[in-house]
Amino acid sequence: MVNVIRAEGATSSALQLLVLGAGAGGGSPQWNCGCTVCQQVREGTVAPRTQASVAVSVDGERWSLIDCAPEILAQLQNVPELAPTQLRHSPIEAVLLTGGDIDHIAGLLSLREGTPYELLATGELHQTLAANTVFDVLRPEVVRRTRVENGSPFTLPGGLQATTFAVPGKAALYQPNEAENIGAEGETTIGVELRHAGKRIYYIPGCAHVSDALAARIRGADLVLFDGTLWRDDELIAAGLSHKSGARMGHLSMSGPEGSMAALSKLDIRRRIYIHINNSNPALLDHSLERRALEEAGWEVGFDGMRVTL
Ligand code: MLT
Ligand code: MN
Ligand code: ZN
Repeated sequence: MVNVIRAEGATSSALQLLVLGAGAGGGSPQWNCGCTVCQQVREGTVAPRTQASVAVSVDGERWSLIDCAPEILAQLQNVPELAPTQLRHSPIEAVLLTGGDIDHIAGLLSLREGTPYELLATGELHQTLAANTVFDVLRPEVVRRTRVENGSPFTLPGGLQATTFAVPGKAALYQPNEAENIGAEGETTIGVELRHAGKRIYYIPGCAHVSDALAARIRGADLVLFDGTLWRDDELIAAGLSHKSGARMGHLSMSGPEGSMAALSKLDIRRRIYIHINNSNPALLDHSLERRALEEAGWEVGFDGMRVTL
């Protein structure tokens, strides 16, 4: 099976993107949550979603992960392309980080055991990892840590052109400054632009608001995978799940005049997919009004196992 898929990938030079996880921090069902979506996932009427991470490749052989969710081992088990083809080997040759929150980085602790890869992140995100000494398990002679500069293109394994860029965001939840500078743009919350064979796609799993610069950058894209954490800004508060608004969490909502559906509606983006979707979001319910509204606006709801070829 692995060989068949490899052969197909090798003949085309298409950009392949695999959604390993489409959920927000906590996933669905979340371990301690009895909300409608989490209960329906437990009952089998809504698909489970692990925490957000994607794999990308242009040759079907050499793969890069964007973010590395806590569920990475289970995520890899579902994807034949990402299985070893030798006694000690992995098709994953790089991991690129878009943030320092647990849902982006915790899976790195499972990608140890001595197989080399390149860990790419901004200087600030590398500092975050360096300050958490448990990540020293990724020994420097095995896992090369490469600093990327926002706005400076680089090449991922297989020849995929990538550029990171600042996105309005927030420091990781466990950091002392996590309540400060929400919505600031820098090296904390990152988007990724991928270019291949004339196609241009964006991965933006966390975003506090769509700035003019961000709108200009993603205008005319072939595909945008975008922060789908919440439907409404006060959804966690209204459901009694948390005291935090979306704005406080550094995530804009899907709906509303300032929401992502409105903000991206006039940017001529060919395909729009929500990712990093929180279990509180009613758009996860297949027959909800929110799902219908989102689909009528031209959006898709990402799911674990979703495949996109461009
Ligand atoms: C977030 O996206 O705000 C975080 O993933 C929250 C969390 O880690 O629980
Ligand atoms: Mn998150
Ligand atoms: Zn829930």
